[in-house]
Amino acid sequence: MADKKSSVTQKGEKVSPSQEFKKQAAIQSLAEYKRLYSESVKNPKKFWNTQAKDLLLWRKPWKQTLKWKEPHAKWFVGGKLNVCENCVDRHLGTARENKAALIFEGEPGDQKTLTYRQLHTEICRFSNALETMGIRKGDRVAIYMPMVAEAVVAMLSCARIGAVHTVIFGGFSSESIKDRVNDCSAKLVITADGGWRRGKIIDLKANVNEALKGCPSVENVITLKRASNRVHMKKGRDHWWHDLVANASHVHKAKAFDSETPLFVLYTSGSTGKPKGVLHTSGGYLLGTTMTSKYVFDLRESDTYWCTADIGWITGHSYVVYGILSNGGTNVIYEGAPNEPGPDRFWSIVDHHKVTIFYTAPTAIRAFMKWGEAHIKKHDLSSLRLLGSVGEPINPEAWKWYHKVIGGGRCPIVDTWWQTETGGIMITTLPGAAYSKPGSAGLPFFGVVAKVFNDAGREVRRGRSGKLVLTQPWPSMLRTLYGDNRRYKETYWSEYDGVYFCGDGCRQDKDGYFWIVGRIDDVLNVSGHRLGTAEIESALVSHPSVAESATVGRPHDIKGSAIVCFVTLKDGYKGNDALKATLRAHVGGEIGPFAKPDEIRFATALPKTRSGKIMRRLLKDIAAGKEIHGDTTTLEDVSVVRQLQEQG
Ligand code: PRX
Repeated sequence: MADKKSSVTQKGEKVSPSQEFKKQAAIQSLAEYKRLYSESVKNPKKFWNTQAKDLLLWRKPWKQTLKWKEPHAKWFVGGKLNVCENCVDRHLGTARENKAALIFEGEPGDQKTLTYRQLHTEICRFSNALETMGIRKGDRVAIYMPMVAEAVVAMLSCARIGAVHTVIFGGFSSESIKDRVNDCSAKLVITADGGWRRGKIIDLKANVNEALKGCPSVENVITLKRASNRVHMKKGRDHWWHDLVANASHVHKAKAFDSETPLFVLYTSGSTGKPKGVLHTSGGYLLGTTMTSKYVFDLRESDTYWCTADIGWITGHSYVVYGILSNGGTNVIYEGAPNEPGPDRFWSIVDHHKVTIFYTAPTAIRAFMKWGEAHIKKHDLSSLRLLGSVGEPINPEAWKWYHKVIGGGRCPIVDTWWQTETGGIMITTLPGAAYSKPGSAGLPFFGVVAKVFNDAGREVRRGRSGKLVLTQPWPSMLRTLYGDNRRYKETYWSEYDGVYFCGDGCRQDKDGYFWIVGRIDDVLNVSGHRLGTAEIESALVSHPSVAESATVGRPHDIKGSAIVCFVTLKDGYKGNDALKATLRAHVGGEIGPFAKPDEIRFATALPKTRSGKIMRRLLKDIAAGKEIHGDTTTLEDVSVVRQLQEQG
């Protein structure tokens, strides 16, 4: 395909898919998209009934499509299914049985492929092992693993037996593991001895051991041997994965569960120091992820799909595991860093496995731009036919580079806007149907009613900025925050009556395309990872030297946002470089290395209003090196601003 001339027509800022792409796509024109979209929002019950019947395998049909008692939704009420059966068992006995489900590549270069048949066997064994250990429907199981095939086996096995998994990203510290495990009272932790990252072993089991000193609910730990590093195993609590599965039967009958059975809790950052446990359930979530995978990625039987997200994030849940496998797709998973052993690692994987669909984050794209095209040219990327972007707004420059250099000018790009809470993609351009506008996520997906509101709760005119809201419930929406219905209501449903507010600022242009501006709450997007400023602040004040702190984001070329912390110290401490390094390491230890501040500035006081509120907007301007305009008359002590500016 590489030698074919560019099949994309570029007219100004609109980029249309080629005729060749359109011809084979599931949705082939804007008119077809509009017709289906209009059906989906005019008669959602009919639409979702048809989709749920067509796309999923149900053991018992539902009685009611949606039970909506704002802000709580129940989808496919009375229906029964098994999510794991949908992702694996139903492909057996079909042409997919011996098709690759997972193609794993470890950072050291080891490779392993599991066909659907083999994946099924692994899952059955592990499900039996879990049940033997006493794990039952509704029990919470924490998974803290590297990106290996067994992590997918662990998730699907939980789903198979009705246990609720909570995957904790391998970059989180022992403190973060402890908080999450305790919040949902997990009974079991599944981990590995270690995982490979940038040529080094991340000592996962040691982090778990440390965390479990303060987790009374955990009865057992299962450890996968991955990196063969030395680990401490506690007698009676710790079990090796290989020992358990060696004795387990490869036959396991999947039970049918109610559609609203909790599937997983995934912790994400919010505007307080305590992460939120986003709860997703079975039928609706699986339908949302299955349907978006099929239409947004235009998934075909012959595709080899690779999403670079870790299973510790929602993208890994929805578009590595559930949505892709339920469509019978072939999934590449890679354990390590994009620049190990060299900056061409991703492209060597695309070339070697002949990846056709590639889904990554803008922060990665910007890093590749910086590393230069020479690394890309070393490899043949002609297998690619579709590219995706997720996690933050993609700047038009990065979009165009991605399109030209990675996509060879022939691959449509789907910029996908969604959140941990939405479960699946909400706004995007369907690749065969609509033209893209670099920098805009595009149009709402089927069943999604997205609007831009002003502060008074009225829809703003096209072209004006406001807050992005979703005005109708959708099947893959979060059901609540684990154990905290009040916070759920307050966080998402209190800005406007009966409307979901997502925390993003947005503008819709005259063609109806949505342009996401980014978070307008106290949440930062750092290298595509969501971090609450309050989380970083509470990590800082837990250090004995810190009296008070305020954290803001500063625009960063590659990471999207850099973390800038303003700190006042307790008496007797000196704000010097050594203390900056100590505080950075402290935040890394409290949350995880990816949360380390990029910059720390000391001050004798933080800029506050006379009523004592920290003036964050002012701090943002100071962090960005902007001149301070506007009104500072409400400021309690104007000299503080100068002090902080001088340290820039
Ligand atoms: O601000 C939006 C940004 O990421 C937030 C959701 O973060 P998280 O729950 O961690 O999920 C990330 C993966 C879905 C959103 O509120 N975001 C995500 N995708 C986009 C985006 N911003 C702009 N364009 C996107 N395509």
